[in-house]
Amino acid sequence: MGIRNLINITDLTIEELNQMMDLADDIIENPEKYYDSCRNKKLATLFFEPSTRTRLSFTAAMMELGGNVLGFSEAGSSSAAKGESVSDTIRTVGCYADIIAMRHPKEGAPIVAAEKTTVPIINAGDGGHFHPTQTLTDLLTIRREKKRLDNMVIGVCGDLKFGRTVHSLISAMLRYDNIEIHLISPEELKVPQYVKDEMDEANVKWKEVLTIEESIPELDILYMTRVQKERFFNEEDYIRLKDTYILDLKKLETAKKDLTILHPLPRVNEISTAVDDDPRAKYFTQALCGKYIRMALILTLLGLNKEV
Ligand code: NCD
Repeated sequence: MGIRNLINITDLTIEELNQMMDLADDIIENPEKYYDSCRNKKLATLFFEPSTRTRLSFTAAMMELGGNVLGFSEAGSSSAAKGESVSDTIRTVGCYADIIAMRHPKEGAPIVAAEKTTVPIINAGDGGHFHPTQTLTDLLTIRREKKRLDNMVIGVCGDLKFGRTVHSLISAMLRYDNIEIHLISPEELKVPQYVKDEMDEANVKWKEVLTIEESIPELDILYMTRVQKERFFNEEDYIRLKDTYILDLKKLETAKKDLTILHPLPRVNEISTAVDDDPRAKYFTQALCGKYIRMALILTLLGLNKEV
């Protein structure tokens, strides 16, 4: 694979995506084959913003490949707190690590980083922009659950304005055949215009709706998201909007029997915990898939996928 960095999900062709998901499937089936494949390699995880799943799944992924991990989990414990630029931090870390996964509150920070080092850069979330490794996770989960990535109706619900997971997921899904997207959000949290333009250019059927109830009977996938508190300019708006959608068992009564419910997590209130025991709830399976696809991504970007 020619790709060196993963900044946006569209950096990968459909064929490259399929190869990576095939590799993840093989890792799940035969984990022992991969135990030593990153021996003597180091992953740096540079998180300038909070994270549980993304950072720890990257860490677990590198450990299961036999490699090592270094890094920081908050900007305050790095030299960013002393005023160091992202460029200088990356040039430095590039001297110590073989591959870097970074999360930063500023949109575009990973692009700047990629220009400053020859070490592969993975965007682990840049502001309200993109989150390609979450999308890899989502695609692997959907493919394993549904055995396909085409011919489906997907509802994305919640904060579609600031939710970077939604932006990357839509960019990825609109490349498959016969996809219909329902955008379920309050007026203030609609997807940005550039996402609508992308869907129109791809001739994907999409519509905006205000309630889960009006969409749910048609959906094959329901992708819930939390309202992104940290990207709001004032607390009042956040408080007013945060509980707009709460998925509960009552709302699921009219849903398909084989609906797949996803959520990148963390959950705040938007899915009632009673839903966790419904067989359609797959968000913790999704969190597990996140580790396997990141193993496949690390192997691919380091060019080690062919050696195994
Ligand atoms: C998401 C993120 O960071 O964008 N979390 C994650 O990586 N699984 C979603 C969120 O924070 O709401």
